[in-house]
Amino acid sequence: MFDSVKTVTRGSARVLVLAQFKGEKLDPDSRKLDDSGHGACAAERAEASGETGAIVEAFPDEGYDRVIVVGLGDKDAFRPGAVRNAAAAVGRALASAKAESVELAIHHAISRLPKSAKVDLHACASAAGEGLGLIAWNYDELRGSATSKKDRPKLSVHCDDAKFRAGIDRGLGLAEAANITRTLSQTPPNIATPAWMASEARKMARRAGLKCTVIQGKQLEDQKLVGMATVGRASENKPCMIRLEYSPARGKSKDPVVLVGKTITYDSGGLSLKVGGSMRGMKRDKDGGCAVFGAMHAIATVIKPNRPVVALLVCAENAVSDNAYRPDDVLTFRNGVTVEVTNTDAEGRLVLADGLCWACEKERPAAIIDMATLTGGVVVALGKVYAGMWCDDDDLRTKIDQAAEVSDELVWRLPHHAEYRAMMKSSVADIVNSAPVREAHPIQGAAFLSYFVEEGIPWAHIDIAGTHATEKDKGPYIAGPTGYGARLLAEVVERF
Ligand code: BES
Ligand code: ZN
Ligand code: ZN
Repeated sequence: MFDSVKTVTRGSARVLVLAQFKGEKLDPDSRKLDDSGHGACAAERAEASGETGAIVEAFPDEGYDRVIVVGLGDKDAFRPGAVRNAAAAVGRALASAKAESVELAIHHAISRLPKSAKVDLHACASAAGEGLGLIAWNYDELRGSATSKKDRPKLSVHCDDAKFRAGIDRGLGLAEAANITRTLSQTPPNIATPAWMASEARKMARRAGLKCTVIQGKQLEDQKLVGMATVGRASENKPCMIRLEYSPARGKSKDPVVLVGKTITYDSGGLSLKVGGSMRGMKRDKDGGCAVFGAMHAIATVIKPNRPVVALLVCAENAVSDNAYRPDDVLTFRNGVTVEVTNTDAEGRLVLADGLCWACEKERPAAIIDMATLTGGVVVALGKVYAGMWCDDDDLRTKIDQAAEVSDELVWRLPHHAEYRAMMKSSVADIVNSAPVREAHPIQGAAFLSYFVEEGIPWAHIDIAGTHATEKDKGPYIAGPTGYGARLLAEVVERF
């Protein structure tokens, strides 16, 4: 919707944005900002419901060109997350008004909430930045000569409160990370190959101050990264593992948090070919890796934690050729576990197994979080609202739950159990990559992965097959990729 969104401290804005709670008039501080009184009148019109994101507009004869009053919902049930949705609604209104500058003065209404409400103003400001930044995302790269390109204005955001403005900047930085994730997700598979992902990672690392190494070709075999080598074998677009490293100015000696992302640049299913309409959209099977990529950008530029962070993007294209891996093949992984392939469409867990083995053996991880579009079953179970989360470590799970509460990227815990691990046993090797029953597919996936994580290392698996994209405009998202996970992972890392 916008070419860019930035905070500014110079000049003045043409549009004023104020906030109101449900059933309330404008607060006195907000009133003072609009001499004309038109905003205060608008806030009392019948359609000024005060519901989160509800908007009324006024057009004063002097001063601002336009005053927008946005609802923040019920005062008693207020959460910073409401600000994200309200800011997104404001962003949509500003875009349709072709506005180029805005005075964001919603903090006055929020500051009036009683102390007992324990509202975190910084979190509200960040959410405001996220809402405006997320709504600005667009992807025009592939519009050709048959489409007239839209002129997108640059939006300058003014805010008279320096602390609130700093929070908006944080939120804009997190939104930028999520938008990087969305752009990667949207890029089609004839462009976004594993090698292309690696070259994007190198470019991003240079800009953000991260270290980037890429393991490919014979090195994959030398390092026994058999999952990527096998899944990616049939494609001309060769597999690789991208390793990104953030190293802090202080706290270098701490053990790193390791983020592992499934990065299947296209999932045709392989010889267990996807049928009917189920292949369409599988360019987004790289979205776990794209989320990790975006999170690393936020970590390097916004979060800057006092702890190292390592990202492993396990990249391959799951294609078909006479060289493709097959059901019945048996693979021996780095950690000695043998896997009988029963379904080449359960490829994500094979590449993730490489990343998890590597993380445990090579990175001395304080914790590992993997993120993946792993199973259609998680969409059946949880729809597009919650991602599935498996994490038996109380401390890590608390961090993830707290981060999800803040970023509004929801997670719902699902179980590990010895009986699910037993379901994965093979009659010829240690385990199969897909059990011959339709039961509990997402949990089978988590159980499979558990064979590649050393005991005692805190680990979480997050299945984002439902949450990584949306078919309809929703909150701060438009139809397409949501960038789910980039903000969540950044918020988790901030808690270490
Ligand atoms: N990439 C898919 C999972 C997926 C499905 C992602 C829908 C996004 C939307 C994954 O590789 C896959 O095909 N999983 C199989 C697993 C089965 C063979 C055990 C599935 O979900 O059917
Ligand atoms: Zn698959
Ligand atoms: Zn897949």
